[in-house]
Amino acid sequence: MRDDPADDPMTEEIAEPAAEYLPEMAREAATEAAPPDSAPPVIASDDSLELVAADVCGCTACKLSATRTNAVPGEGAPRPLVMVIGEGPGADEDATGRPFVGKAGQLLDKMLASIGLYRESNCYIANVIKCRPPGNRDPQPDETAACASFLARQIQLLQPRFILCAGRIAAQTLLNTSTPIGKLRGKFIDFKAGDTAIPFLPTYHPSALLRNEDLKRPAWEDLKLLRAAIEGQ
Ligand code: URA
Repeated sequence: MRDDPADDPMTEEIAEPAAEYLPEMAREAATEAAPPDSAPPVIASDDSLELVAADVCGCTACKLSATRTNAVPGEGAPRPLVMVIGEGPGADEDATGRPFVGKAGQLLDKMLASIGLYRESNCYIANVIKCRPPGNRDPQPDETAACASFLARQIQLLQPRFILCAGRIAAQTLLNTSTPIGKLRGKFIDFKAGDTAIPFLPTYHPSALLRNEDLKRPAWEDLKLLRAAIEGQ
């Protein structure tokens, strides 16, 4: 793992050290976007990640099922330290049925590796919606609603220690807020899942980092915050 932001995997250009944060401080600061106190999702006692994946792949609950090549349930470690939640599949994910395998996914893998996280061992990667919206448009409310129970089941089954939420759409959907991602990022929020609260850290989407270099530094600070929380648990 890297300690120096000059070793940031996303840029060579960071000169000043980024601020260090304590996870407790971050949690105390997380008050702006409290997730709704929704009823705990009920999962069947024989539910499993394999069943969720089969249900996702057979789902025809919204119009995205008609245009997808493959549904993209998610992949990774079954008892992950960190669950990464993105927006939804793009063209590469639609073609392969795997999450975050395009350019943004390659950057995500680098970012995660820089703090010791790997989808092969201690991380699970999924999306808010499981089928690609045509032309990569934003998902529509009926589509996120149709997919909500899949993600709820995955979170309940995985019981991740932390959730890293990648991007505006995922953060706003899961926190039921219209607060901009620039205000949501950088602090942990307690995300209620059943009878537990999972520390939930919104950050910028890797695609946004590819489009805008200026976001790389705050994204790196978010990763450092996650690393500090993992080390402090
Ligand atoms: N962007 C996402 O949000 N998810 C993916 O799986 C790929 C790109």
